[in-house]
Amino acid sequence: MMVCEYKPGLEGIPAAQSSISYVDGQKGILEYRGIRIEELAEKSTFLETAYLLIWGELPSNEELKAFEHEVRYHRRIKYRIRDMMKCFPESGHPMDALQASAAALGLFYSLRDLHNPAYIRDSVVRLIATIPTMVAAFQLMRKGNDPIRPRDDLDYSANFLYMLDEKEPDPLMARIFDICLILQVEHTMNASTFSARVTASTLTDPYAVVASAVGTLGGPLHGGANEEVIQMLEKIGSVENVRPYIEHCLQTKSKIMGFGHRVYKVKDPRAIILQGLAEQLFDKFGYDKFYDIAQEMERVVEEKLGSKGIYPNIDFYSGLVYRKMGIPTDLFTPIFAIARVAGWLAHWKEQLAENRIFRPTQVYNGRHEVTYTPIDQR
Ligand code: SDX
Repeated sequence: MMVCEYKPGLEGIPAAQSSISYVDGQKGILEYRGIRIEELAEKSTFLETAYLLIWGELPSNEELKAFEHEVRYHRRIKYRIRDMMKCFPESGHPMDALQASAAALGLFYSLRDLHNPAYIRDSVVRLIATIPTMVAAFQLMRKGNDPIRPRDDLDYSANFLYMLDEKEPDPLMARIFDICLILQVEHTMNASTFSARVTASTLTDPYAVVASAVGTLGGPLHGGANEEVIQMLEKIGSVENVRPYIEHCLQTKSKIMGFGHRVYKVKDPRAIILQGLAEQLFDKFGYDKFYDIAQEMERVVEEKLGSKGIYPNIDFYSGLVYRKMGIPTDLFTPIFAIARVAGWLAHWKEQLAENRIFRPTQVYNGRHEVTYTPIDQR
C-alpha cells in the first residue's frame, strides 16, 4: 500500500469521487452538476436545484411539480417532535435544537431500507420538507409561542419566512431568500459534507447522517461563521473602526470571520452574488450602515491579506442579507443547514451507490511498551 504524507486537515487529499459539484478555487468557479451557480441563481429555484443535485439532472416539468407537491405536503412535524422541542431550554442554540430534532425524526422511521429507491425518496422529501418547520418551531417556542402551521399555498421559501412570524413575506424578499438557499445548498467536500459521507458509509439511516452533518456545520470555522460575522460588524460599529480592528486581529493572530477559504484563493463566487442580493434589499428596504462597514472590511483585508489569497467567503455577506430580512442572528446557521441538507442527501445517495466504509489511518506518535504503574505509586 502507498504510504501518504500526513496532511493536517486532509488538505488536498481526495476523500471521494463525486459528480455533484465542482469548484475552481483559482478562478472562482462553482458548478452544480456542471451548471454554473450564477445561472442557477438567476433561473432556478431551491427545490429545482435540490432535485438536480440529488437525482443528477434537471427535472422535467412533471417531475418538478411532483417533487414540489410531495415536499409541500410533508411540511408538518409530528406533535411528539413539537412536544420534545418544547422541553428544550430556550437559551439553547437553535443549531443544537435542530441537530436533536433531526436525530429524533429518525426514531419514527427506523426501518432502514437503503437499497429501495422509494425509501431514499421518502427520506429526502421528509428531511427537506420538515427541517425548515423544525427551525421555525423552535424559534417560536423558545419565545413561549405556539409554532405556526405551514401554509400549503406558499412555496418553500415564502412558507419558511411566514412560519417565522406569521406574516406573508414580501415577494422580493422570498425570492432573494430562495436564491440564498441555492447558493448555500452544496459545496464539494466541505467539513459537514465529509461528516455526512463518513456517517453514511456506516450504512446508518439518513436522519443520523443529517444530524451528524448539522453538528459539524455549526462550528465557527464552518457555517457558524455567518453568525459571528454579524457579531463582529456590531462590535466594530463604524467604518473608522475597521482598520484598527483588522490590525488588532492580525497582531493577535485571530481569524477575521467571513474571510479565507481552504479552496478559494479569490473572492468566493457565492459572496459576489450575495453582495448583489444585499444591495437589492438595501435599495428596496433601506440603507444599512453594516454594509459600509463590510465593504471597508473587504478593502482593508484585501490590502493586508490579498497576497495570501484571503477574500470574503459565503458567510461574509449571507449574514447581512438575513439580517436585513429581520431574521435573528442565531438562525443564520440553521438556515444554512436548511439549504445544505439537500447537498448532504445528494452525497448520502452517491455514497450509498458505491459504498466502502471510511476508515483512514493515522500517524501514531505515542509511546510503546509502557508498563502499568499501580495507583499508589503514581
Ligand atoms: C464555510 O470548505 C467549504 O467549502 C466550506 C464552505 C461551504 O460552503 O461548505 O465554503 C462554508 O465554511 C466558509 C468558511 C467560514 N469560516 C470563516 O469565515 C472563519 C474564518 N476563516 C478561517 O478560519 C479559514 O480561512 C478557514 C477555516 C475558512 C480555512 O482554513 P484553512 O484552509 O485551514 O486555512 P488556515 O487557517 O490554515 O489559514 C492559512 C493562512 C494562515 O496564515 P499563516 O499561518 O500561513 O501565515 O491564512 C491565514 C491563517 O492565519 N488566514 C486568516 C484567515 N483565514 C486564513 N487570517 C486571518 N483571518 C482569516 N479569516
